Amino acid sequence: MHFTAPLTIALSKGRIFDQTLPLLAHADIRPAEDPETSRKLILATNHPQVRLVIVRASDVPTYVEYGGADLGVAGKDVLLEHGGEGLYEPLDLRIARCRMMVAGPLGADLGSRRLRIATKYVKTAERHFAAQGKQVEIIKLYGSMELAPLVGLSDRIVDLVESGNTLKANGLVPLEHIADISSRLVVNKASWKMKHASVMALVAALREAVGRSGA
Ligand code: PRP
Repeated sequence: MHFTAPLTIALSKGRIFDQTLPLLAHADIRPAEDPETSRKLILATNHPQVRLVIVRASDVPTYVEYGGADLGVAGKDVLLEHGGEGLYEPLDLRIARCRMMVAGPLGADLGSRRLRIATKYVKTAERHFAAQGKQVEIIKLYGSMELAPLVGLSDRIVDLVESGNTLKANGLVPLEHIADISSRLVVNKASWKMKHASVMALVAALREAVGRSGA
């Protein structure tokens, strides 16, 4: 594959990086280094025109929207929270799949008072409850949401559920489904126009890789 324009692709370390790698390999893009062992934030690839930048998962949409990267891979959870207007989202990569759920203790009687919801997905949770006409109090956390109801910090949580093991281990049950989550390819709007051939070649190769993976 030949890229006429230089392309910068934003990825986060860990699950998204690991699961995106085989898809990029299908487009014949291979990083020169492993981000788990290298401290470098810009990784060259076998293509002189293509580089990867390693950013926090929740920062991927920001880098791509403002042109710090031409493309990126971001979880739908992160995109729902960021707001998708500033980016194109041409492809569901069907990796890192899980569900965003409301969860809480089984059978807790909350009466009619205002629910307290602990989550790192503040805007998404607000939208979800507002659509039900419910006024809730949102408590912003950065992780370990499952702890909040156990220590009386909140009545419910909004979090990602994959196997359900974390909920179960903490005596919580899923209560409401908010969204199916998977990682998406996102593209900067200017790059989409100005680097159209290269972006399209990559999108097409990734689309084929997703199709082949049969996920
Ligand atoms: C995620 C999520 C849940 C857990 C769900 O956390 O926030 O805590 O995984 O997975 P399960 O249903 O298979 O148990 P993660 O470990 O990714 O860490 P995070 O809290 O930093 O996102």
